[in-house]
Amino acid sequence: MSQKTWGGRFTGSTDSRVEAFTESITFDKRLFRHDIVGSQAHARMLAEVGLITADEAEKIATALDEIGQEIVDGKMEFVTSLEDIHTHIEKALIGRLGDIGRKLHTGRSRNDQVITDLKLWVRDAIDELDGLLLDLQKAFVESAEREHNVIIPGYTHLQRAQPVLAAHYFLAYVEKFQRDRERLRDCRTRVNILPLGAAALAGTSLPINRESVREKLGFDSVARNSLDVSSDRDFALEFVFCLSVIATHLSGWAEEWVIWSTTEFNFLDLPDAFCTGSSIMPHKKNPDVLELTRGKAGRVIGALQHLFVLVKGLPLAYNRDLQEDKTAIFDSMDTVGGCLAVAAPLVRQTKLRREVIAARLDAGFLDATTLMEALIARGVPMRSAHEAVGNLVRACEERKCRLRDLPNSLFEAVAPSHGATVKASLGVENAIDAFKSYGSTAPTEVAKRLDEWKQKLEL
Ligand code: ARG
Repeated sequence: MSQKTWGGRFTGSTDSRVEAFTESITFDKRLFRHDIVGSQAHARMLAEVGLITADEAEKIATALDEIGQEIVDGKMEFVTSLEDIHTHIEKALIGRLGDIGRKLHTGRSRNDQVITDLKLWVRDAIDELDGLLLDLQKAFVESAEREHNVIIPGYTHLQRAQPVLAAHYFLAYVEKFQRDRERLRDCRTRVNILPLGAAALAGTSLPINRESVREKLGFDSVARNSLDVSSDRDFALEFVFCLSVIATHLSGWAEEWVIWSTTEFNFLDLPDAFCTGSSIMPHKKNPDVLELTRGKAGRVIGALQHLFVLVKGLPLAYNRDLQEDKTAIFDSMDTVGGCLAVAAPLVRQTKLRREVIAARLDAGFLDATTLMEALIARGVPMRSAHEAVGNLVRACEERKCRLRDLPNSLFEAVAPSHGATVKASLGVENAIDAFKSYGSTAPTEVAKRLDEWKQKLEL
């Protein structure tokens, strides 16, 4: 009898180069736990509908547990001739139970089995990511609380724009990672639909009960169309898209902190434990963790590209190309999981260099927009106020001074009889206090948001 599960139709054996070329065991062995859980549910269902006996189902379930332990203990020998994890486990089962083991694959195909395993794996990955993202959010909220009233420059185009509270800055990232968590939660709803029972592509003539398997494996519903199931990798695309957005958020943040930790900016005191040195330049403290976080985003976005190109031209239903989905899914999850695991402690241990930041807040006209709004509030049309402040900034650049160093007469000329009050709106502290709108950096608004996040994240 052939070694292959599909050997019956074949006379010759497979070329060893083909075995090496078509195998997936080197990367899909990490699905073994999910494969076992899926097979146990399938076996118990087979017993319920009378396709095997209850005793056979329990023997299968017990043997599968033992096989799982063997894999954990590193005792299973993985060989390319057995292609993938599904075949390895089934062969091991048959090795233990003989004909009883030969019954497990009843009413099932590797096509629906592999998607079931993958969906179970992705579901666990999503739950793990949610925990990691939550921890990172907590780290940012803690920083927001610690640095609450520190005023920092806000940037657009990486040019000084308006002052913001440090808490407002940290909470901006909490919002981004909240959307990432929501996106994953939404993705999970489509991951959590049971594929098993679609069999190869058309279903089966055997009296299987998919609803029972659904319940056993904790899926929310049963996939309606077997042809769709066997070709569907939307869930993988969505999952890796979600990972790509997380990686993109992390990368932007990492880039910002790389810049902020330069001598030129000097805004941050990065923890030694999260930096590395140079083998030749003794003074160096390099932000490698942040740089790699930025760099690894490329791998994750690359994985999304990989998946899109993989599925874009596939006719229904299963095609072997789909075996290539796993490296993209696993690598992007490992990469993002790894980035998140170091991001949270790095955020927690990084401090703002408050004195350095404060000493330079007068540079860059952070209060110019507040001055313009003070003029608008006193009846100057917006465009005129914009132009007038632009002129004042130009005057400052000529005199090399701040807006508040200009003579009162210049303010009086722009806002007759309001010159002094308008001038009194200058300075970053006044600018911060002037903010009012919902969601702005106004201290009362930021304090509310901080309280809301502390409650929501149970801090
Ligand atoms: N290792 C295969 C995969 O990952 C399992 C499915 C194989 N199905 C088949 N018809 N050859 O896609």
